[in-house]
Amino acid sequence: MTTLTYQSGFGNSCATEALPGALPVGRNSPQVCPYGLYAEQLSGTAFTVPRAENRRSWLYRIRPAAVQKAFEPYQGAKGWSSQFGQGPVSPNRLRWNPLPMPEAATDFIDGMHTWAGNGHSDDLSGVSINLYVANQSMQNRVFYNADGEMLIVPQEGRLRLATELGLIDLEPCEIAVIPRGVRFRAELPDGTARGYMLENYGAALRLPELGPIGSNGLANARDFQIPVAWYEDIEGEFELIAKFTGGMWRTMLSHSPLDVVAWQGTNAPYKYDLRRFNTIGSISYDHPDPCIFTVLTSPSDTPGAANLDFAIFPPRILAMQDTFRPPWFHRNIAGEFMGLIQGVYDAKADGFSPGGSSLHNCMTPHGPDAQTFEKASVADLSQPDYIRDTMAFMFETRRIIRPTDAAMSSATLQSGYDDAWAGLKKHFDPNKP
Ligand SMILES: [Fe+2]
Repeated sequence: MTTLTYQSGFGNSCATEALPGALPVGRNSPQVCPYGLYAEQLSGTAFTVPRAENRRSWLYRIRPAAVQKAFEPYQGAKGWSSQFGQGPVSPNRLRWNPLPMPEAATDFIDGMHTWAGNGHSDDLSGVSINLYVANQSMQNRVFYNADGEMLIVPQEGRLRLATELGLIDLEPCEIAVIPRGVRFRAELPDGTARGYMLENYGAALRLPELGPIGSNGLANARDFQIPVAWYEDIEGEFELIAKFTGGMWRTMLSHSPLDVVAWQGTNAPYKYDLRRFNTIGSISYDHPDPCIFTVLTSPSDTPGAANLDFAIFPPRILAMQDTFRPPWFHRNIAGEFMGLIQGVYDAKADGFSPGGSSLHNCMTPHGPDAQTFEKASVADLSQPDYIRDTMAFMFETRRIIRPTDAAMSSATLQSGYDDAWAGLKKHFDPNKP
């Protein structure tokens, strides 16, 4: 295994070379590049977006990506879908147990199962929410996603993401984002892997504004890690799988496409350790809205209504006084898809397992279950609550989140989820103010 180093920061322009002097100095596309490399620009945003939002990188590689034959439809990856339907969606609260590991040899691409989503990649708006279970590294095959950037949330088992721009080693409680179009191979150092993967069709993920919080807090820019240049110079049969307009495509290459010797720019994959999140909350009374836990956001064209907010519920200390400390009952306009990486989520006593998922859509009432309500209503508030060893997260979108047919017909869909609230008793007494 290579010793890894990363560049630190978010939104910075990075420069990295795996061979000394591989990066051209003073120009992006010199007449002849050092070491006989080809120069290639990878643009993740329109050329003319404001400078602060611009994402583009210059890659210096052994062969340009253009050296490829025609694609044909790929017959694998059957669980991957971009069809979220047009008809009515059930307003019911939904919850799923974790997907079991596959029995047949299955890699990260073939083990992807689209569970829910909205919008469409053609419109550069919306998201697709996927679950993955895999028991095999991608071998002599590389993937890229033209439909969206990929936010990968491992729940069990590490991943090594060998990308065009460098190596990312990822473990549960860390996340990675692979920009649209970046080619990569997913390897499984632990033999099996399970997790969540969101495809963001909309504007690239970024840190949220901090407003009155100030210049520090939540996810700090310094904790985002960007890989350094790494390449392989291998001749041989490589399968290239592409996702484009919801379809899966394949072609064969006569070399590894992970052959970028140096790169510089702002469009690059990155990782972040969720355990570094600086959690901020109330130190007086009441429970703040969950947007206080936003790690990354994909804005829409309506200010404040995000295409996607990625929020986490990490270990934290609750000290609010005269307050019901767990998340309150609510009905929101947003769609909320939740997952659990480890431990117990503080609004549910049981039924929401690590690797499981839940979906609460627009105006669907939810909140603590009966057991959690009764316990928190009589809790001793003179002592803080230490919420330890947990990591839940939420994909929150401005649009309705539409579960796929696969999700609705899965054996992992729980029946009786509504019973979580059935035990909430009437406490009202008009004679007891
Ligand atoms: Fe909620």
